Amino acid sequence: MQQFDTVRALRWTGTTLELLDQRRLPHERVVLKCTRAQNVAEAIRDMVVRGAPAIGVAAAFGVVLAAQHATDVARIRIEIQKLAESRPTAVNLFWALERMGKVLDAGGDAVRLEQEALSIETEDIAANRRMGELGATLIEPGLAVLTHCNTGSLATAGYGTALGVIRSAYAQQRITQVFADETRPWLQGARLTAWELQQDGIPVTLQCEGAAASLLRTGQVGWVIVGADRITANGDTANKIGTYGLAILARHHGVKFMVVAPSSTFDLSLAHGNLIPIETRPMSEITSLAGVPIAPAGVAAWNPSFDVTPADLIDAIVTERGVIEQPTADAVRALLA
Ligand code: MRU
Repeated sequence: MQQFDTVRALRWTGTTLELLDQRRLPHERVVLKCTRAQNVAEAIRDMVVRGAPAIGVAAAFGVVLAAQHATDVARIRIEIQKLAESRPTAVNLFWALERMGKVLDAGGDAVRLEQEALSIETEDIAANRRMGELGATLIEPGLAVLTHCNTGSLATAGYGTALGVIRSAYAQQRITQVFADETRPWLQGARLTAWELQQDGIPVTLQCEGAAASLLRTGQVGWVIVGADRITANGDTANKIGTYGLAILARHHGVKFMVVAPSSTFDLSLAHGNLIPIETRPMSEITSLAGVPIAPAGVAAWNPSFDVTPADLIDAIVTERGVIEQPTADAVRALLA
């Protein structure tokens, strides 16, 4: 691994998918060993592994485990269906399962499926490195950046999407420091992004997301840089809840807004963002913190896990195939269709 890139969320041994349990970070490094497809589906559902590309890679290895243990193809297809039901918003999951399904349709055995899963993993890291290079060139040196959720090595096969751009830009001395939103309610920013950047020696300052407006007003931040869970044909982008608000704040304060996502995050079958299925998670994630109740018993809570940022609030979408500035349906089609 290279400088500023030392963390990995997944490791495939040939018979087991080892997942760094992201629910236990930053205090404990616990590895969960998945030997069956069902273990992988549960790990995705329970947020052991999370982040759109990482979910896709994990699911691909889940299909390999299914094939290694199944006695017939029908059984593998049932396991694929269960993997597909683990989380609804990140399209990388369905993209990876479709790719594995095509290998199965063509008569591929467990060995061939393993090759495909390994390709998905390797291609994701390569895409992230390419996006890192492309995104970093957009950043004029001298200012800080603000990011949301965790989009790093923990959220991908390695290097990261938005955090990959941040890694590359930091290595090129283009950014002074990184501000990370804590990202309620799962605290991916506090628990994961702050930890991951610390591991790699990149200076990070944590803030609650309510501080974003005040931070952007100071003029210290040149770009807000985020990942994506699904991007529709017109460039509308679903990402962690709170991203849409950041895009509005960025536009209001004259700060640029960058989305970084591989082509596997695009869903060209959907015309616009209102069509994206948004995961709603349990109320208890809002009404309690680390298992301790913080709200009156019985209060209602609304807990959408993602929101949609309209394309016209996005200055650049960085993909491994190139950069789309001021995204429109025509520009997305020209790059990806
Ligand atoms: O609920 P999560 O932690 O899976 O949500 C993750 C995000 O929203 C990330 O920003 C997104 O997947 C892009 S990560 C490369």
